[in-house]
Amino acid sequence: MRYDIMLIGEAYGEAEERAGKPFVGTAGKFLDGILDEVGIARASCYITNVVNERPPDNNFSVYYDGKNPTPKLLEEYQRLYNEIASVRPNVIVTLGSEATKAVCGASYASIQHWRGSVLATPHGKCVPTIHPAAAIRDWLFRPTMVADFERIKKESLFPDVRITKRELIIPYKFEEACAYLEQLKGAEYVAFDIETETDQITCVGFSPRPGWAVSIPFWYGASGSLWSEGEELQLWERIREILESEAIKKIGQNGSYDIEFLRRTMSIDVRGYEFDTMLAFHCLYPELPKGLDYLVSIYTDHPYYKFGRKATSMDDHFRYNATDACLTFECFISIREELVAAGATIFYHDYLHALVAPLLRMQERGVGFDEERRDELRSEYRGRLGKMEEHLCSLVGRELNINSPKQMKEWLYGSSPGGLALKAIYKKRKQTGEETIAADEEALEELYKKTGNEAIKVVLEMRELNKILSTYLEVKLDPDKRIRCSYLIHGTETGRLSSRQTARGTGTNLQNIPPGDIRRLFTADHGCTLINADLSQAEARVVAYLAGEERLIKVFDSGGDIHRKNASNIFGVKEEDVTDDQRQLAKRVVHASNYGMGPVTFAKQLGITKVEAQRLLNRYFATYPGIKNWQRAIGDEVKRKRCLTNPLGRKRVFFGRYGEPLVKEGLAFIPQSTVADVVNQALIELDREGFEILMQVHDSLVIQVKDTDIEVSAARIIAALQRPIEINGRILVIPVDVKTGKNWEDMEKMKKLGA
Ligand code: URA
Repeated sequence: MRYDIMLIGEAYGEAEERAGKPFVGTAGKFLDGILDEVGIARASCYITNVVNERPPDNNFSVYYDGKNPTPKLLEEYQRLYNEIASVRPNVIVTLGSEATKAVCGASYASIQHWRGSVLATPHGKCVPTIHPAAAIRDWLFRPTMVADFERIKKESLFPDVRITKRELIIPYKFEEACAYLEQLKGAEYVAFDIETETDQITCVGFSPRPGWAVSIPFWYGASGSLWSEGEELQLWERIREILESEAIKKIGQNGSYDIEFLRRTMSIDVRGYEFDTMLAFHCLYPELPKGLDYLVSIYTDHPYYKFGRKATSMDDHFRYNATDACLTFECFISIREELVAAGATIFYHDYLHALVAPLLRMQERGVGFDEERRDELRSEYRGRLGKMEEHLCSLVGRELNINSPKQMKEWLYGSSPGGLALKAIYKKRKQTGEETIAADEEALEELYKKTGNEAIKVVLEMRELNKILSTYLEVKLDPDKRIRCSYLIHGTETGRLSSRQTARGTGTNLQNIPPGDIRRLFTADHGCTLINADLSQAEARVVAYLAGEERLIKVFDSGGDIHRKNASNIFGVKEEDVTDDQRQLAKRVVHASNYGMGPVTFAKQLGITKVEAQRLLNRYFATYPGIKNWQRAIGDEVKRKRCLTNPLGRKRVFFGRYGEPLVKEGLAFIPQSTVADVVNQALIELDREGFEILMQVHDSLVIQVKDTDIEVSAARIIAALQRPIEINGRILVIPVDVKTGKNWEDMEKMKKLGA
């Protein structure tokens, strides 16, 4: 029998040992599912392993002596090579890293890099992919395996390696470089990419069509400029003409980085930025990786090449740049088609791509920051921390390093003198599922709730203070003393933005600034006022409308003290008789139950028993039965279609294993993405009108306006944020709360304008 495909796994598991055959157990069944999905008959594959036996304790590392294969493993390698030689498949498929190392060599150990690449090896053509056992542990690998097997199916038709020839040009002669740049001016689309070192651009790559790219080189390492001063200026002027031309549509991979860099270092304003491969891929598959290496592995036949980033020669560096531009163009063609097929083109352009320019403007603008007060606060906090350390020492009876997990565990759970000998809290490791004893924030909170131990409370307070110190009070400002961040449109799977420090290492995540001292440091510029506009109870309102839960809708629509009204419904008491506790519980239960939180987590959060938490959740669902029905419907939809669409048209595909955690992700996705999309549409609109938006914090915007314009501006901001959302044939308008102030903490509520 002739086999076109040879599948190579690692070693037998229990089921294989029993059957004396490879891949007959769980991993085999999983693999069968994938083969089935892409239309490869298992019977047409020759299947074997690096080691056709079960390793003791299923531990493959017994075949290694340190990093080196043992003689036994080398013997098995030889057996495998003989087996390949006798089967002579068109394509060898190595499942996981051990098989890939055996066939391709030790330098191919990183399976996440090499998977999907078509490689020429001494034993024949090989395509590595992920081991089924890894994909069983993490189902998000499954779609990648499917994509790899689609490729394997094609490659199984012939034995040789046929990789598209690409023309990558690096003009070292001035006239040549000019001529190529001139040619680019006639292109409709141009993918571009910069490489940088020590905060300077080393080269700029352009690709106007698949399979062709040019890298305009400037310098590398110790080379100094490759051009005379005049030549360099001229080249940059020609590059500027291309990048600033509206008529030439630009494509980038995470282009925000390149655009910001070009503007900051070369004063080049990229115009006509039309398509971002990373963002468009995120729009289609928010759960999957979105680096260019991954996109290339899915959409092109180019093998993994990202080790080129650490290029050994100047030429390699520029070739790497040209390769990036070239492959970005190729990915663009495929992703654009996929957007069309998914009916997501308009959504991508209006809701994701349209954010690029406004967010870049916000990032560039930054926020005024009271550096002097920050320095005072830092000393204050350090002083407080010192006192707390002494207090803790007196409570514990010795010094305790609260940042050492080992010391913390010994103190909390140890029974030696000074140890608290508490009942251990366990936490599951996400990757391996292994249970380990925990001494992190969450564990400490739980232990404190259970014991009321004063020293644990002090540790928690110290950790909080430490966090504030290191995250905010030691934050690096930009030279103009403003604080900035970098917003990521692709930052979350739920459609929310995320933020982090800038690519230059300044600033910090501005979407998680705690109220109080730190917010007070964020100040309006001279003659200006900050407006904080906040969608009120936004996610809960969206859920009420989606669920068609009339009683809850009425609570929201009638205004007033929503939590009090809610508590009155849930606890069956008159509004005026609702206690503060009941009001607080009502507030917490809305959030917990809407997102499918179980009684155990809810109990932990509130510091109550599981029975009490369950009773509270039951009361909530009994009061608002529509919510439970909506949750069931979402669960069903995730199961049947593996896709949800929010009221604004944002889609989310779910690749994870179906179960409670996946349904919870679905429950969170719809309201979170709806609110994010509403806020971001307002952001785009207000930016277009010239508003100085300073920050986006999920369901709120912070905008700076002239002192003389507060009323008019606030009315306009409210109007932009109060966008009608059509849900189940009804219109929801989420009300906006507005506060104003000279800093972000001391703000006054504004009476509603234009609402
Ligand atoms: N895993 C492998 O690598 N090989 C088998 O045969 C079964 C599970």
